[in-house]
Amino acid sequence: MPITCNGKGIGRLLGILWLAVYPVLADETVPPGPFTETECITCHTQRNPELIRQWREGPHSTASGVGCNSCHGDRHEDSVIEARKNRRCTGCHDGPASHSYATSKHGVINHLDKIRQDWRQPLRRGSDYRAPGCSYCHLHESDHGDTMASNRDPGARQWICSGCHGPRYVREQFANGQRQLDIADLKLTEGGTLIASAIDPKPGGLLKRYQDLTHHRQNVLLGIGHQSPDYQWWHGQAALDGDIIRIRDALFHGQDAANRITRSER
Ligand code: HEC
Ligand code: HEC
Ligand code: HEC
Ligand code: HEC
Ligand code: HEC
Repeated sequence: MPITCNGKGIGRLLGILWLAVYPVLADETVPPGPFTETECITCHTQRNPELIRQWREGPHSTASGVGCNSCHGDRHEDSVIEARKNRRCTGCHDGPASHSYATSKHGVINHLDKIRQDWRQPLRRGSDYRAPGCSYCHLHESDHGDTMASNRDPGARQWICSGCHGPRYVREQFANGQRQLDIADLKLTEGGTLIASAIDPKPGGLLKRYQDLTHHRQNVLLGIGHQSPDYQWWHGQAALDGDIIRIRDALFHGQDAANRITRSER
């Protein structure tokens, strides 16, 4: 629509000019840093109260000791670009959380694209990311809570995946994931009940077995969350089945078996 010389047209013209000038002004007003953690929080509490609220209620609040600097560094230059890269997350989450992702198709594609990727792209639908990195899923659209947390609205999690996949495919992935987790929980309960039934729980052996069960249940969760078949099955369900066999062996095949467990773990 052409801009005419009535009041509405001038308003719109000024609006367009302001949009053109604003980024330059905004850039000029961003102080370079370095800043302390408290300075980041104080200034951004005024500018982005919603972002700070998400961060406080999310997994990376002061309670876990992970502040702004851990992901953004202590200066503004490239702060947002650095935070989008996987290496920011994998430095701290270097165990199964990273390995399950690295062994998924997303992880492999993202790794191959690392050099050509334009990291200035925001983490949102329609951006130029072929496969999601850690923060694409967990801090989608700058949400500083955890956009993949299981207590989130399931529709919101699925919406993030369906920026690339069809809605039917995504629904099935989550439904299948839930079934797998339910089966893993049955195994966890079964193993736990068996251990609780032991007359002499032999802390060294059977308690270690319980830790194995919870560890392998977490692998199932990471396997379905990160679409890693290895973690769903070998490090997850199959490992849980093995735990239960070893627990039954220790309980029902007498002292020898129980000793075998303790000895092998010395
Ligand atoms: C004195 C105020 C002030 C302090 C202190 C401050 N910032 Fe900022 N920050 C700004 C302003 C202004 C902007 C640009 C406008 C906006 O995004 O709100 C900005 C933008 C950002 C952005 C977005 C950058 C982009 O390219 O989109 C990030 C990330 C950020 N700040 C992180 C931090 C971190 C981390 C710290 C502490 C190390 C910090 N800020 C300290 C004022 C501040
Ligand atoms: C776990 C890592 C992590 C932590 C901790 C974190 N951020 Fe971020 N932040 C990110 C990522 C990743 C992005 C880019 C999101 C995107 O592109 O949508 C981002 C984006 C931002 C932006 C740009 C928002 C926008 O809409 O453009 C600001 C401002 C910001 N962070 C400030 C902060 C402040 C202040 C803190 C501390 C209270 C903080 N961040 C803590 C990872 C983090
Ligand atoms: C400075 C270390 C550090 C960095 C950097 C970091 N995290 Fe964390 N993260 C933690 C700690 C500590 C916790 C809380 C304890 C826990 O649950 O592991 C946590 C919790 C989480 C959780 C929830 C885990 C749970 O058990 O509920 C997720 C998901 C997560 N981080 C993802 C990320 C992503 C994605 C990034 C990168 C954008 C990132 N983290 C960057 C240390 C870090
Ligand atoms: C930024 C785009 C993007 C997002 C977001 C995304 N994916 Fe993917 N996904 C891909 C690509 C690309 C592939 C590889 C497809 C291929 O060539 O087989 C893939 C592969 C997969 C596979 C493996 C298929 C196979 O053949 O092994 C599963 C399962 C999957 N995605 C589920 C999800 C789920 C669930 C989410 C959300 C939590 C999600 N994806 C988010 C792009 C995306
Ligand atoms: C395709 C989206 C996607 C990508 C990419 C992704 N995650 Fe996840 N992540 C999930 C989902 C979904 C879960 C399962 C959350 C749940 O149900 O509790 C999860 C679980 C986790 C957990 C365990 C949370 C818990 O409740 O115990 C951590 C930690 C984590 N991711 C970190 C990472 C890191 C680090 C990366 C990158 C190396 C990454 N994620 C990449 C979707 C993703």
